[in-house]
Amino acid sequence: MIYSTSIVCVQDNGGKSLSPGCVSVETWHNAKQVLRDYGLRRHRIQGCKAMSTVTLKNVMKIYPNAEDHKKSRKKGGEDAPKKKVNLQITERGVVAVQQFNLDIKDKEFIVLVGPSGCGKSTTLRMIAGLEDITEGELYIGDKLMNDVAPKDRDIAMVFQNYALYPHMTVYENMAFALKLRKVSKEEIDKEVRRAAEILDITQYLNRKPKALSGGQRQRVAIGRAFVRNPQVMLMDEPLSNLDAKLRNQMRAEIIKLRSRIDTTFIYVTHDQTEAMTLGDRIVIMKDGYIQQVGTPQEVFNHPHNLFVAGFIGTPRMNMFDAILVENKGEYHVQLGGIEIPVSEEKQKALKANGVKTQDITLGVRPEHMRVCEEGEEGIEAVIDVNEMMGSSIHLHVTSLGNDVVMVVSTIEMSEKAVSALTTNGSRIKYTFPGKAMHMFDKVNGVNLEEK
Ligand SMILES: Nc1ncnc2c1ncn2[C@@H]1O[C@H](COP(=O)(O)OP(=O)(O)OP(=O)(O)O)[C@@H](O)[C@H]1O
Ligand SMILES: [Mg+2]
Repeated sequence: MIYSTSIVCVQDNGGKSLSPGCVSVETWHNAKQVLRDYGLRRHRIQGCKAMSTVTLKNVMKIYPNAEDHKKSRKKGGEDAPKKKVNLQITERGVVAVQQFNLDIKDKEFIVLVGPSGCGKSTTLRMIAGLEDITEGELYIGDKLMNDVAPKDRDIAMVFQNYALYPHMTVYENMAFALKLRKVSKEEIDKEVRRAAEILDITQYLNRKPKALSGGQRQRVAIGRAFVRNPQVMLMDEPLSNLDAKLRNQMRAEIIKLRSRIDTTFIYVTHDQTEAMTLGDRIVIMKDGYIQQVGTPQEVFNHPHNLFVAGFIGTPRMNMFDAILVENKGEYHVQLGGIEIPVSEEKQKALKANGVKTQDITLGVRPEHMRVCEEGEEGIEAVIDVNEMMGSSIHLHVTSLGNDVVMVVSTIEMSEKAVSALTTNGSRIKYTFPGKAMHMFDKVNGVNLEEK
């Protein structure tokens, strides 16, 4: 196993640090060698932590008990949540996750995002060891983990329903896992106080969970996982049972927290805003498959397919039926009686892919649309509803038979122009630049630039 460069604190049998006290080592083996070199029997090694890369190679999960699962769902009654998924069902059972390939870097914050039932929790639970991996390989560092027991994976997990022990104080809740591991009292105290300080819950250490707010309880749950100083921290929708305001607050807390915690994070959410704000990279899933992996900026600017385009970004990307016309290597899009030239960068990608004239699904983000000046050529629309957001107006319009949303910035507008836009039923024209266009194959939904 590869260890990051670490400091080994070498102490003599009396616990006194030996001068110079700290020795830098590259590997665990190295650390042991150092201790042998010092001729020490009793020793303490501090801060020697493995590289926390996580690698999933062609991982697949099949739930063999599809029938039982269906039955148990029925038992939940009509109100049981129905998952809108098209999972593949084979003779072996329901394929919840397949062809899952991902290299997670040391200390990276990865977010798995996708609609309900797409396989996020299943993936996380396979990494934690709570679910068997049907096929494929899981590595933490360079160690194959498929058959390693959860307790030996050096992983901590925070669940959505993070039930704290109600009869224990915050301190006891946080100390519990360490106590089970027979860690010394002083060490427990040090770890709990360190975690409490980072999470800003020191003042609540003696309280019982019922005397805490939802957000404070959430922090205790994170702290409970965090005291174990895990190589990898897994979080499954940890904020989903908080109200909107608290969720925003906790999201900010997690952003702060991650800079202070020296750990790889894998975080599951169905909320694309959470994914965009938290992730170094986002993994977008649907029906058990990865749709795209990339930084928030990459997935926003270059969605690989229609699904990703519609899932990432709020308000949602507008979609139109349009025609992409190729004429001697030059491209433009025809929509609503106007022609919009494709930007230079996109031209190159289309040309490289040998894209020809064809019907397409055209995607344009609401914030990239612009209301035309008087007399300017544009696509016609009628304003249905307007939402004044202060610095911008969200215009819901009907255009070309579609519901279209536009986010119009009001900063440069005269009051007269603003009042025209806030009159429902008014007719307007709109346009957008060529670089704002996302062109998707009409049949398979793949971005024509990406093919
Ligand atoms: N024990 C099981 N047996 C059979 N099928 C299962 C089992 N657990 C989960 N599934 C199915 O596997 C699919 C993936 O489930 P999973 O819990 O990973 O989804 P998710 O992306 O976490 O969804 P959510 O956002 O609702 O939590 C679902 O369609 C689910 O019905
Ligand atoms: Mg889930």
